[in-house]
Order: sequence, then structure tokens, then C-alpha cells
Amino acid sequence: MKYSTLSLKSMIKTRYPSFAFLLTAASITLAGTTSAQNISPPSGLDTVTIEQTRTIANELLGQLGQKLKSTMSAEGPEAAVSVCKEASPSIAKTLSAKHGAQMTRVGTRVRNPAMGTPNAWQKDALMQFEGRLAQGEAPATMEYWKVVNIDDGKRELHYAKAIMVQPICLSCHGAASEIPASLSEKIRLEYPQDQATGYSVGKLRGAVVVSKTLN
Ligand code: HEC
Repeated sequence: MKYSTLSLKSMIKTRYPSFAFLLTAASITLAGTTSAQNISPPSGLDTVTIEQTRTIANELLGQLGQKLKSTMSAEGPEAAVSVCKEASPSIAKTLSAKHGAQMTRVGTRVRNPAMGTPNAWQKDALMQFEGRLAQGEAPATMEYWKVVNIDDGKRELHYAKAIMVQPICLSCHGAASEIPASLSEKIRLEYPQDQATGYSVGKLRGAVVVSKTLN
């Protein structure tokens, strides 16, 4: 399908070079249609699953945000590193087990490559989010939904919710000048491959991602 579209494109390009721009316009429209399908929950998905998926994603963000805030103000940012490192996977694990799903956080750039690197569909979701933000979509309600066929005739739900950079994130993910020296040293020692700095407020930092096998 993709292949034949491509060869048709190149054929038209060679024969009718002046129409090439029309093809470009057509592929943009097509790409827009594909992403539009992932904006809302698929029509076959039951409302309980939809609500549960939204709830656990919001709960992870809510619980983490609170813990981060309270630890930052009571003990300072260096102590709060452990919130991101330990509390995040432990909250995600509890919520995942409770709802028979797998949930984690991934980044557009990553501090912990083992935990935060997006797989293929998660990368797709992040790229879509960047595109939708550029088109002016409000980040607070931005979601990605897809149901895919997996082995044994089963289906799997893929869901992502955008995580945006807020002021509180900057002492650990901002520009080098915003990160206190001792904290920067701690991060460098614990995460020698860190890529997750240089962000500013309002940028896409990553996503909460949920996968769930459907019956
Ligand atoms: C006190 C320092 C600190 C603050 C503040 C902080 N983070 Fe992080 N963040 C980290 C650390 C450390 C990790 C790596 C955690 C791990 O080991 O999985 C991380 C990882 C992440 C990841 C997972 C992807 C990756 O890069 O590994 C996301 C997403 C993320 N942070 C978003 C945020 C957002 C959004 C905020 C603000 C609301 C924020 N962080 C505030 C330290 C911080």
C-alpha cells in the first residue's frame, strides 16, 4: 500500500513535475487524517476502560506532582531526585496492578534510558503530540488512543497522555544555568547518559503511557 503510493508519486513527479506540489498537499491531508483517528478513544472501546485508563494516567501525574512539590519544599531538590527515581515507578506499578494495565513514563529526551525510552508506538505518540501542539491544541487534554491486534486474536490498547514542562521541573530539567551545581553533579553521577536538560516551561517533556490487553 505504502509502496504503491510511493511509486505512483514518483511516476507522477517524473511525468508531471508541476503537479508534485499537489501530492505534497495530499500527503499532509492524509497524515492529518491518520492522527485524527488517535485523538479520541476508538469507537469499539468500552467506557469503563476509557475512564480507568484516563484515571490511572491522571493519578500517576497527580500523586507524583504532589510528592515532588512537598519533597522539594521540605528537603530541597537533591532529595527530590529519589521521588522521580523511586516513587514514580512504584506509584506506576501499584496503579498498573490494580487495573490490569502496564503504565510508565517516557521522555522526548531521556534521563534514565532503561526506564524512560519510548518504544515504537510511544515514539509515534510523542511525535504526534509535538505536531498537535504546533497546531495549537491545548496540552492539558491531549491524548493518544489506539487499539492494535496482537497474538491469539487479542487486542491491545495503547494510550498516551502528554506531560508538559512546568516551572517546578526546571531545577532538574531546565537549562544548565537553572540547575544548582551540586544537583547537577548528583544527576551526572547517577545518570551519566542524561539527555533530559535544556527544557523550558510549556515544552513537551514526555508522556504517561498505558498498555492494556483487551478481551
Ligand atoms: C528533583 C529533580 C527533578 C525534578 C524537579 C523533576 N524531575 Fe523528572 N526526572 C528526574 C530524574 C532523576 C529522572 C530519572 C528517573 C528514573 O531514574 O527513572 C526523571 C525522569 C523524568 C521523566 C522520565 C523520562 C526520563 O527522562 O527518564 C519524565 C517524563 C520527567 N522526569 C518529567 C518531569 C516533569 C514533567 C517534571 C516537573 C513536573 C519533573 N520531571 C521534575 C528528576 C527530576
